[in-house]
Amino acid sequence: MPEAPDHSALAEWRQRLAQARSVCVLTGAGMSAESGIPTFRDALTGLWSRFDPARLASVEGFRADPGLVWDWYAERRAGVRAAQPNAGHRALAAFARRRPGVLTLVTQNVDDLHQRAGNRDTIRLHGDILQDRWLEPCGMACDPARAEPGRPPRCVACGGLVRPGVVWFGESLPPAALQHAEHAARHCEVLLVVGTSGAVWPAAGLAAAARRAGAHVAIVNPSASEIDAEAHVCLRGTAAILLPALLD
Ligand code: OAD
Repeated sequence: MPEAPDHSALAEWRQRLAQARSVCVLTGAGMSAESGIPTFRDALTGLWSRFDPARLASVEGFRADPGLVWDWYAERRAGVRAAQPNAGHRALAAFARRRPGVLTLVTQNVDDLHQRAGNRDTIRLHGDILQDRWLEPCGMACDPARAEPGRPPRCVACGGLVRPGVVWFGESLPPAALQHAEHAARHCEVLLVVGTSGAVWPAAGLAAAARRAGAHVAIVNPSASEIDAEAHVCLRGTAAILLPALLD
C-alpha cells in the first residue's frame, strides 16, 4: 500500500474521483484540525489526552457533575463558533456544487464547518454541538431553547435538564443518519475517509462495508489509522492540502 501522497497516486485518485458517479466521504476530527478545532486522540493535542471521556462524554458523567460537563461543552461550542471552514471543507462544498447528486458527505464531527462551507445536507452521525436537547424525553413538548438559563439550563415547566446535542459514549447513533450513511457506503464507487482514527464504531465500519461492496477506498490522514487495512491507498497528508488536490 503506498504510504505517501506521491504524485502518481494523487493523479490516479483525482481521476477516479472526477469520473465516479457516486462518491461518499466520511470525515472525522482531523477534517477540522486545520480550522483550529482539536481532535480527540492525537497524542499531544487531542482532547482525550487531557480530559476524561467517562466524565465529559457520557450520561453518567453528566448526571454526576452537570455543571462541569455543561461548562466544558460551552467552551468547545465557543471554539466551534470562532472557527472557520478550511480549504478542505471548501473543496468538498465546491465538488458538491460542481457535480450535483454525486457526493454523500458523512461526518462524525459535531461542529458545523461542512454546513458553513456549503454542504447543507451533510449526514451527522454524532449530533450537533450547537443544538441542545433534553436529557430525558420531555412529555410536555417543551422547547429546550426556552429553558431557564443555568449550568445546565433547566425547564421551569417540566423540570427537565438540557444537555448538549451530541452522541455520548454508550449511546446509539441517530438511526436515520446511520442508515443513510451505511446505504451511501455500500452504494458508492469511491469512499474517501478523511481525518479519522477509525477507533469509534459504527462509523469506523463504513470503510469495510464500502470495500466489501466493491468501492475504491482511500484514506486521507497524515498518520496511521485503525482502518488503514480497509483502504486501497493511504494518502499521507492533511485534509486542507490533499482535498483541494484531489477534488478541485
Ligand atoms: P480522532 O481524534 O480519534 O482522530 C483524528 C484523526 O485525524 C487522527 O487519525 C489524526 O491522525 C487525523 N488528523 C489530524 N490532523 C489532521 C489533518 N490536518 N488532516 C487530516 N487528518 C488529520 O477523531 P475521530 O476519529 O473523529 O465523538 O473520533 C471519532 C469520535 O470519537 C468523535 O466523533 C468523537 C470522539 O469521541 C463524539 O464527539 C460523539
